[in-house]
Amino acid sequence: MAKIGILGAGTWGVALAGMLTKTGHDVTVWSALPQEITELSETRRHKNLPGMVIPEETRFTASIEEACRGKELLVFAVPSVYLRGTAAAAAPFLSEDQILVDVAKGLEPDTLYTMTQVIRDELRRHGITRAPLVALSGPTHAEEVAVGLPTTIVSACTDAQVAEKVQRIFMNPIFRVYTNPDVEGVELCGAVKNIIALAAGIATGLGYGDNARAALITRGMAELTRLGVAMGCYEQTFSGLAGVGDLIVTATSRHSRNNRCGTLIGQGVPPEEAVRQVGMVVEGINALPATLQLKKRYGVDMPIVEAVEAVLHGGVAPRDAVYELMTRERRNEIGSSELMVVYEHTILQNRRTSDMKRVITYGTFDLLHYGHINLLRRAKALGDYLIVVLSSDEFNWNEKHKKTYFTYEQRKQLLESIRYVDLVIPEENWQQKRSDMHEYHVDTFVMGDDWRGKFDFLKEEGVEVVYLPRTPEISSSQIKKDLYDAAGAEGESQTTHDDINTDPKE
Ligand SMILES: NC(=O)c1ccc[n+]([C@@H]2O[C@H](COP(=O)([O-])OP(=O)(O)OC[C@H]3O[C@@H](n4cnc5c(N)ncnc54)[C@H](O)[C@@H]3O)[C@@H](O)[C@H]2O)c1
Repeated sequence: MAKIGILGAGTWGVALAGMLTKTGHDVTVWSALPQEITELSETRRHKNLPGMVIPEETRFTASIEEACRGKELLVFAVPSVYLRGTAAAAAPFLSEDQILVDVAKGLEPDTLYTMTQVIRDELRRHGITRAPLVALSGPTHAEEVAVGLPTTIVSACTDAQVAEKVQRIFMNPIFRVYTNPDVEGVELCGAVKNIIALAAGIATGLGYGDNARAALITRGMAELTRLGVAMGCYEQTFSGLAGVGDLIVTATSRHSRNNRCGTLIGQGVPPEEAVRQVGMVVEGINALPATLQLKKRYGVDMPIVEAVEAVLHGGVAPRDAVYELMTRERRNEIGSSELMVVYEHTILQNRRTSDMKRVITYGTFDLLHYGHINLLRRAKALGDYLIVVLSSDEFNWNEKHKKTYFTYEQRKQLLESIRYVDLVIPEENWQQKRSDMHEYHVDTFVMGDDWRGKFDFLKEEGVEVVYLPRTPEISSSQIKKDLYDAAGAEGESQTTHDDINTDPKE
């Protein structure tokens, strides 16, 4: 039995509270709206969950302190727009050892943070930096969970033990929980699928049929996956429960408010009025601004998301938006980069016996922090075999003017202890990169996006060059500066990437 606090008494918070209480957990639900607490505790009914009687043992409180203090696990179940405020209100009563589970689905405008990133960011301001965060997401309509219909979901956390603990706490015969380490991918799916569901609803409202809905689901998934892969998420996440699973349910179910809102818009109801008529949060609309910014930042094509934006905020009639989508330039269903991989793959298969895809990355990997681990995990996800070319001490000093905390041997040992790094070899000079591509039969060359463009010349060697996004707010230079400052030692060289000639052919 776990002591659980649920922050948010909307449909999802209450449905989860009922399920967790019935499976023997001690559950306290908080809402920012005191009248909601009074009504729920007196009537034991939620207006949007007609088939459910809330168990007597589920406690309700208007005190966020009572909901947070002493709880092993806290569930953030408020709509995305209230998440930051709720995290700020909860922060004074939280401790580092509580597991924080987010079930809200969205992306914050301006910061472009996913929901767990919003919680992390807000708690950091209040001095809480290590509390484990989990995203719990999947095809889970509250209306069905509330009446005990079988449901599946994903518990996403970079710490597998924490993901498994949440799996154990939530799992029961009507609620099957899978784990997944790709938190960002799971959260991206949860936010962007709501926009695609709006599009599916708009098509229904226009009187289009199942063919159009199936097309929007499939092509919507293609653009969501394209964005996720560009952001460094796992491709498999998008074909999993949090991805295609949640998109199918949201774009087809009568319980989906995004779908319903879209249907009203397709029937000609103005967007604000459609949201008012739905009467509950329509997260697809909230997620639009951040999704459009991410699309721009990562340079991916997202025509369906753009069409929804044109209808909602650009004054374009739904029928005209569909016409635009249908008459776009002719395309191949398989993207050109994927075709390239298939092509290269075929050639490589003929050239060598193994069809293993090899990925290579370069770096100093000093202090091996979370940002590095994330980069390596994402690099490995791009292939089957990951080679790390580790700057030797001489190379660091002579060519990068860098001091390292750990020696080459120590850094090599650390890298070799990570289970997804397959080979560590030394980097002695910049020029070796070209020959490494051939010697190690490399398919994909990966660097952090602070090097964007600097290694494009390697495409000439027949490899794909990928720049992966850096983990926000983690910087080796900053960590080192802090360490040097703390030790009163002389800081390291200020050489930047721009000062380095990455491919001195001469
Ligand atoms: N309903 C579902 O089936 C479902 C399933 C999975 C995930 N989700 C996600 O969970 C989140 C919540 O969804 P929901 O269906 O419970 O929404 P909802 O519209 O039912 O929730 C409204 C609730 O938000 C809370 N609230 C209102 N004003 C607030 C404020 N100022 N500060 C803090 N809280 C306030 C109140 O408790 C209110 O009941 C959304 O992000 C949604 O995408 C919902």
